[in-house]
Amino acid sequence: MKGLILSGGKGTRLRPITHTSAKQLVPVANKPVLFYGIEAMAAAGIADVGIIIAPETGDEIRAAAGDGSRFGVAITYIEQDEPLGLAHASLTAEPYLDGEPFVMYLGDNLLQGGITELVASFRASGPDALILLTPVDDPQNYGVAELAGDRVVRLVEKPPDPATDLALVGVYMFTAGIHDAARAIAPSDRGELEITDAIQYLVDQGRRVEPHIVRGWWKDTGRLEDMLEANRLVLDRIEPRIEGELLDSQCDGRVVVEAGARLERTTVRGPAIIGAGAQITDAYIGPYTSIGEGCVITDAEVEHSILLECSQVTNLEGRMESSLLGRNVKIARGVRQPRAYRFMVGDNSEIGIL
Ligand code: TTP
Repeated sequence: MKGLILSGGKGTRLRPITHTSAKQLVPVANKPVLFYGIEAMAAAGIADVGIIIAPETGDEIRAAAGDGSRFGVAITYIEQDEPLGLAHASLTAEPYLDGEPFVMYLGDNLLQGGITELVASFRASGPDALILLTPVDDPQNYGVAELAGDRVVRLVEKPPDPATDLALVGVYMFTAGIHDAARAIAPSDRGELEITDAIQYLVDQGRRVEPHIVRGWWKDTGRLEDMLEANRLVLDRIEPRIEGELLDSQCDGRVVVEAGARLERTTVRGPAIIGAGAQITDAYIGPYTSIGEGCVITDAEVEHSILLECSQVTNLEGRMESSLLGRNVKIARGVRQPRAYRFMVGDNSEIGIL
């Protein structure tokens, strides 16, 4: 069995971060989202993992994940010229998959508990496809499944009037039949070959599509709020570890301070993680915050936020919260006269001021 992680796409909902970087590399608890998927594959005993990449962000993903040896898997990169849908991505990978059954994992998704159990149940019962489902409060925003016993009978994308609350999770197990299904379907109204349509095609052809209800949490990190929630969920289980330097500072609860980080006259209230080489002075870091490597925070309060590498936050009057800062972002109170807000902000940024 092979693995296929989809790490192409446009990432429009996470602009401006995705103007310059792949959304699958945005860190959750200081680790790129994509790595959780690769680790889940490795833990399930999948040795060969194909990663779908887009032309714009492929190099960055290659550089981050490499040949996979540090995860204990062999990674092959597969370029998808255009993001024409999840079923199109599986078709693009057909030569790599070479007729083998495979786990398809959306590279911006996080699944607590991994996929080991699913791979085992797929191997044991040998269906044509196995899809993961989870009950949600707002099924009208998801692909929704209708079941009859242990079979999936219907899949509907974002139904206005959902028949069940069972949403499709971004992890699927397929046999090679999914490629024929992807060839048989037509693009949807948004111009994509939808994986729900391909699975529905399997159902219509009398193939066995089994459901599996996931018990732990599942998060699609495609939007800012989801990214922050994923960060919260992962930090909630982090093992405390202080390897950096604490000067006149205090860490309460689940806190990781990586080696080379330096905290001075600072309080960190966990769950939180402070990356290697970060310099935090006269600051308060509140719960559910991930501070990336080399960040500098001085005279400021930060809570429920993700800061990517080498960002700086200085001398804020109010607390910064529920924020996502990209790399090398600088936020500071200006001291020059006239007193004014001074911004240098890219397209599609959002700024909330006091
Ligand atoms: P989505 O989040 O559904 O699509 P997107 O990345 O284009 O994002 P947005 O809606 O914000 O514009 O994609 C789910 C995952 O699958 C994500 O990791 C990107 C990946 N993907 C591909 O690799 N190829 C594709 O053709 C598509 C549509 C997505």
